[in-house]
Amino acid sequence: MEDIVISVRNVAKSFRRYDRPSDRLKELLFPSRKQYREFQALRGVSIDVPRGQTLGIVGRNGSGKSTLLQIIVGTLRASSGEAHVRGRISALLELGSGFNPEFTGRQNVFFNGQLLGLTRGQIEERFDDIAAFAGIGDFLEQPVKTYSSGMFVRLAFAVATSVEPDILVVDEALAVGDEAFQRKCFARIESLQERGCTTLFVSHAASKVVELCDRALLLDRGEAIVTHHPKFVIDQYQKLIYAPADRYPALREKLRTIPDSPLWPEPPGDRDDLNGSAKREASDDAFEIEADDFFDPGLKPSNSLAYEPRGADIQSPKILALDGRPVNNLVGRREYVYTYEVEFHREATDLRFGMLIKTVSGLELGGASFPAVAQNVTHAAGETRITVRFRFTCCLNPGVYFLNAGVSGTVDGQFTFLARGIDIAIFRVLPPTESFASEIVDLSIAPQIAIDKQRDRAR
Ligand SMILES: Nc1ncnc2c1ncn2[C@@H]1O[C@H](COP(=O)(O)OP(=O)(O)OP(=O)(O)O)[C@@H](O)[C@H]1O
Ligand SMILES: [Mg+2]
Repeated sequence: MEDIVISVRNVAKSFRRYDRPSDRLKELLFPSRKQYREFQALRGVSIDVPRGQTLGIVGRNGSGKSTLLQIIVGTLRASSGEAHVRGRISALLELGSGFNPEFTGRQNVFFNGQLLGLTRGQIEERFDDIAAFAGIGDFLEQPVKTYSSGMFVRLAFAVATSVEPDILVVDEALAVGDEAFQRKCFARIESLQERGCTTLFVSHAASKVVELCDRALLLDRGEAIVTHHPKFVIDQYQKLIYAPADRYPALREKLRTIPDSPLWPEPPGDRDDLNGSAKREASDDAFEIEADDFFDPGLKPSNSLAYEPRGADIQSPKILALDGRPVNNLVGRREYVYTYEVEFHREATDLRFGMLIKTVSGLELGGASFPAVAQNVTHAAGETRITVRFRFTCCLNPGVYFLNAGVSGTVDGQFTFLARGIDIAIFRVLPPTESFASEIVDLSIAPQIAIDKQRDRAR
């Protein structure tokens, strides 16, 4: 029998929602008249976590992740159902609960350490380690309310992990720490894992969930949709959030029918994986729906910048699928056409048309600038409209990208930009059904791995 240390049985949680703050008061005055609406934040959630496992919990904002963690930690009561926990539990919840803002960092370390079951002496013994790990220097002597959110989480994490908990609960908190601190935290989580600490880990960072967790739970609108190997769950989750609105309910329902994995799931491998068996079983299974390109009217660039035009305007920038449909959700490795129209208002020669693709952070990934003469367009006379089409292969990994456009030419004997648009179009690349590609560019890498030589070490 597995040693289950966290057991959640059919947990539901409803909150009362008041439309106006004054409704609360009204209810106090007239208790017989209810002013609130029930809001169901969790419904029928069950999960068992065996000792030493790291369970990732993923889901969109408001899906109930923090509510579930709070019920497990015991800071919130379930409306129905039960949650049982065995062992010392140490939690890093969203709002850094457990810290008193008026106390100094040092006082909070003692206050919190004692809450977590350490004696004063034990805390004194560990204090230097905690201070060193937090690395916030003199701020330890300042009231916690003066901390930045990063400093706050540094200290909270240092305390939470110094007590050698049996169960560690981390709710998204690490995201506010800087890169170096995050790496330090993950190293510490890993060392706790090695010592058999059971961990619940909520994060929006998909790669961290895959890296750190043994199993993952997908929550959606308060319901446990699927519990499986982290890589599988993340893939399904991304497919779900990127699905067009009209396909969302069907996809969600299909995901719900996937049986939960064993407590310790096997990684989805090449031969015996879920995708593979699903492929064999039924082609319309949710987790086998091939991503398809589509147009999402809600996806619009919000910070487009048009340079002051000098003789030409760039209009209607868009991406087309090869069959001519406008799309802004693209499938990796497929071909598309980026097109825009240019309206010339004066005569120009030596025309060049350009494009550029950038990441959200502004990294310029690639583009092109073509002399129009190569396509037998030598010049634009007076009022002229020209359509420009750039066919390209979308060799990008899932994410959001921006497009620039530019037209240059010679006017009045001078070669110059005639019009330029920065971030005038946006597109998203959908997660593929199966891909091991990482980072930004998908180089179509095909690995081949073989053992050349092997010696039995136990001789
Ligand atoms: N005290 C409360 N009163 C009313 N509604 C609440 C309360 N706490 C949470 N909720 C609601 O319950 C739902 C689930 O919230 P929860 O904080 O668990 O989501 P989450 O998955 O942690 O989201 P996020 O990714 O944004 O952290 C939300 O719709 C939220 O508005
Ligand atoms: Mg949350």
